[in-house]
Amino acid sequence: MKAYVTGGTGFIGSHLVEQLADGGDHVTVLIRKTSNLRWLNHLAPKIQFVKADLHDIDSLIPTLEDVDVVFHLAGLTKAPDTATYNHVNGEGTRNLIEACLHVRPRLKRFIYCSSLAAIGPSPDQTPICENTSPHPLTDYGKSKLKGEMITRNYADRLPITIVRPPAVYGPRDTDIFIYFQFIRRGLMPIIGDENRLLSFVHVKDLVAGMHAAALSDRAVGEAYFLTDGVVHSWIEFAQTVARAMEKQPIRFGIPFFVLDVVATCAEVVSRITRQTPTLNRQKMLELKQPFWICDSTKAEEQFGYRPVYSLEKGIKETAGWYLENRWLK
Ligand SMILES: NC(=O)c1ccc[n+]([C@@H]2O[C@H](COP(=O)([O-])OP(=O)(O)OC[C@H]3O[C@@H](n4cnc5c(N)ncnc54)[C@H](OP(=O)(O)O)[C@@H]3O)[C@@H](O)[C@H]2O)c1
Repeated sequence: MKAYVTGGTGFIGSHLVEQLADGGDHVTVLIRKTSNLRWLNHLAPKIQFVKADLHDIDSLIPTLEDVDVVFHLAGLTKAPDTATYNHVNGEGTRNLIEACLHVRPRLKRFIYCSSLAAIGPSPDQTPICENTSPHPLTDYGKSKLKGEMITRNYADRLPITIVRPPAVYGPRDTDIFIYFQFIRRGLMPIIGDENRLLSFVHVKDLVAGMHAAALSDRAVGEAYFLTDGVVHSWIEFAQTVARAMEKQPIRFGIPFFVLDVVATCAEVVSRITRQTPTLNRQKMLELKQPFWICDSTKAEEQFGYRPVYSLEKGIKETAGWYLENRWLK
């Protein structure tokens, strides 16, 4: 396969590029002047970098020639406002697809990496599936849904597939990593109800799933959730991290109203520093949902998706990576 990856310098994209290149696929990675290549440098002889701008269709067209599959992972997961999210996650997607139309019919698949956030949480303890109506809560989720809708609008002209990960963890992740830092320091904060339910996927299972989806004719025009196949509670996740780090942390609850205050303060500070805070009112809205759960049965049935990382195995590997790479001391 001649693969073209956007977002290849990021957490998920770098694992995808690595897996494709190690499997013998020819990989082209879209980068920007400002991109940090730290996760890809070791692959440099096996992969090719191209510079182009997601907001300049003419710059994209020549980079797409001779490509079989586009994996579109570039996106913003944190942004200061709705317009910025939509600009990158929505319009950036539209521009890339417009550029892809110029290399049709060679292009065999366009994979759009969406998110569970685009569809929203489950209303109850039943994991949502692909026919659940979208009801995104946050600006991020709405912009990912916009990206999905744009992608779907081209389904009559391009073979598209949409992949929706829930919470993704694994080596190189900097978000869920924060929880590992707490546990390392001997603290186990439980935000809100410890029985809140979540779906997870290990990054290597996710990118293997994207690859399998790209190779499956059945997946054309379809959307899929990709998870580890099990629903987890927040306390189960916390205890799994503690076991992986061989810690017996002090458990304490943080009521939502405390975090609401912190989030509001962080937003005020961010207006001065012009940096997007990790915790803000939108993030709080997400955190308060009791059921961020989805079901990947459709991917299993339609293209043989088989996650190999249980939460226990994946968290253990991830903790080992953080320690080995001195992210955790
Ligand atoms: N992490 C999760 O838990 C999760 C869950 C569900 C869905 N997703 C989706 O998965 C995708 C990857 O997420 P991630 O966690 O790997 O994010 P990440 O580590 O923040 O990486 C984001 C990537 O997008 C690129 N990018 C951002 N803005 C761009 C622009 N304007 N033009 C070109 N490239 C741009 C970045 O390139 P530079 O290096 O040039 O900045 C980087 O390679 C996103 O689409 C996200 O919505 C993530």
